[in-house]
Amino acid sequence: MKKILVIGSTGQIGSELTTELRNRYGGSNVVAGYIPGAEPKGALAESGPAAIADVTNGEQLTDIVKQHNIDTIYNLAALLSVVAEQKPRLAWKIGIDGLWNVLEVARENKCAVFTPSSIGSFGPNTPHELTPQDTIQRPKTIYGVSKVCTELLSDYYFTKYGVDTRSVRFPGLISYVTPPGGGTTDYAVDIFYSAVRGEKFICPIAKGTRMDMMYMPDALRACTELMEANPDKLIHRNGFNVTAMSFPPEKIYAEIRRRKPDFKMEYQVDPLKQSIAESWPDSLDDSAAREEWGWHANFGLASMTRDMLEKLEEKLNA
Ligand code: SER
Repeated sequence: MKKILVIGSTGQIGSELTTELRNRYGGSNVVAGYIPGAEPKGALAESGPAAIADVTNGEQLTDIVKQHNIDTIYNLAALLSVVAEQKPRLAWKIGIDGLWNVLEVARENKCAVFTPSSIGSFGPNTPHELTPQDTIQRPKTIYGVSKVCTELLSDYYFTKYGVDTRSVRFPGLISYVTPPGGGTTDYAVDIFYSAVRGEKFICPIAKGTRMDMMYMPDALRACTELMEANPDKLIHRNGFNVTAMSFPPEKIYAEIRRRKPDFKMEYQVDPLKQSIAESWPDSLDDSAAREEWGWHANFGLASMTRDMLEKLEEKLNA
């Protein structure tokens, strides 16, 4: 029986993953961890238990794990790439000091741990086309540095202590539920809000800049399927490349225009976001994930765009 703690349950991934896990394993078996000021609301608050779970407070995590007999931790606490550049010390404190706490609690209480990595773990000298699973990772952002450390520290705890750590390198995640905040790939979500509101979209990423992206339903499946995968088949552990699509701004704009012909977009390139975007892969090779645990994406650019527009229209017009 799985008893799960989601740290960061009200964030971009957590708000949907917590619901998905509750649907799968039962509401009472999934504790929604949050920090004060970001309490679960609505269906998330009503569908199962919640607890204050500050990743920087190891004792608090231990108490929750013991109290609820937790055997699996989804550690989703993190700052995204752009905001991390503004607060590097905090990014480290949450991403790495916090991860240390999680891994120690997991070691002492025999929990499995999922802590996402990202396309941000790659850097300017990584091969950009079909970026291999095992390749150069010399990122220039603190976000990337912390993600490489996340992968390495998680692997270390597996090798040294046998903690069942697993993770994927997420591309930009697109969803109509909880907006991201402070990421480089956020434009691919923001563009839908502008399109549905009938506003012109100001694009901070330059024409021709490709990045990997994924629709949230696929991302949620990646988390649960990897954690349920047969461990005997896993050659890798932390940081599986996963992708669903790769596009530059003009391509998602064109796709939205097929359904909203009056939609307008103008480029006002943000130098920080652009330099981060250029340092990341253009397209990932996710064959290791496919081979080792059967990963595949269901949504491509056209099907994601259709669903996003429909769902966001319902949401904003409600
Ligand atoms: N979505 C993240 C960001 O843009 C990358 O994983 O920061």
